[in-house]
Amino acid sequence: MMSQLKNKGYAIYDYMETLKYEGIEEDYEALLEYFEYLPVDDYAPELNRYRRYSRALVLPASKNIEWLPNVVRDGREYAAYFQGKFNPEHPGSYREFHAIDPHILENTLLKKIIMADYEETFWGEEDMIMPIHVGVHFVKLEVDEEGERAVSSPDCLHQDGEPFTFAHLIERRNAEGGINAIGIPSVSGSQPEEVDEDKLHEVFELNRPLESYGVEDSSVSHYVGPITKGGGEGPAVRSVILIDYQLTVVADMDE
Ligand SMILES: [Fe+2]
Repeated sequence: MMSQLKNKGYAIYDYMETLKYEGIEEDYEALLEYFEYLPVDDYAPELNRYRRYSRALVLPASKNIEWLPNVVRDGREYAAYFQGKFNPEHPGSYREFHAIDPHILENTLLKKIIMADYEETFWGEEDMIMPIHVGVHFVKLEVDEEGERAVSSPDCLHQDGEPFTFAHLIERRNAEGGINAIGIPSVSGSQPEEVDEDKLHEVFELNRPLESYGVEDSSVSHYVGPITKGGGEGPAVRSVILIDYQLTVVADMDE
């Protein structure tokens, strides 16, 4: 069966529906509560962004998830991250993020999401002998003050550099904006409103928990807009789990 991800370069999912199992609500609540206490993204403290990150390997044969060890600095656990070369705001930079806590890494829903995304990815047969590297970002945008905004990085249509990326909504509360757009690759660097309509495949919003989308990065560009406060009480919040998938990179002996 040809998946939409393979066909069109992107796909939209409703995982609350398709992953449904006994206990999904409790596991979702545990993730939702964990997002309440995400630490500030040290790399963007002024942007109202909060983040944790961990990485794993998926072994193609056993389909086991193996979490990679963290680095410890001043008694805190960090996960190392190498930014894909396509993020114009952080070209080629090495970063360390606060790691996701062990009890959350064991959350059944998180594991099911990782494996459901993994099953959507596709690779050359000869690539499948090596583990697939999985980067799991918990990212929350939060705006407390009227007139302020919280911005995703980069704040334009872009490609990530990893072969596949998926986004899963955890919560959207009292937020204006946060629009998603999928475009052709050549509109990278532009704002969606600057681009001819026929160069955008789809413009949409994730509203309900576990509404999700995935991209095959080389086939499309993608965008998520900043959020501002809506008319309701309390802060504007938009929380997502972002998961990227890439091959084990083996050194080229000829270089
Ligand atoms: Fe992205």
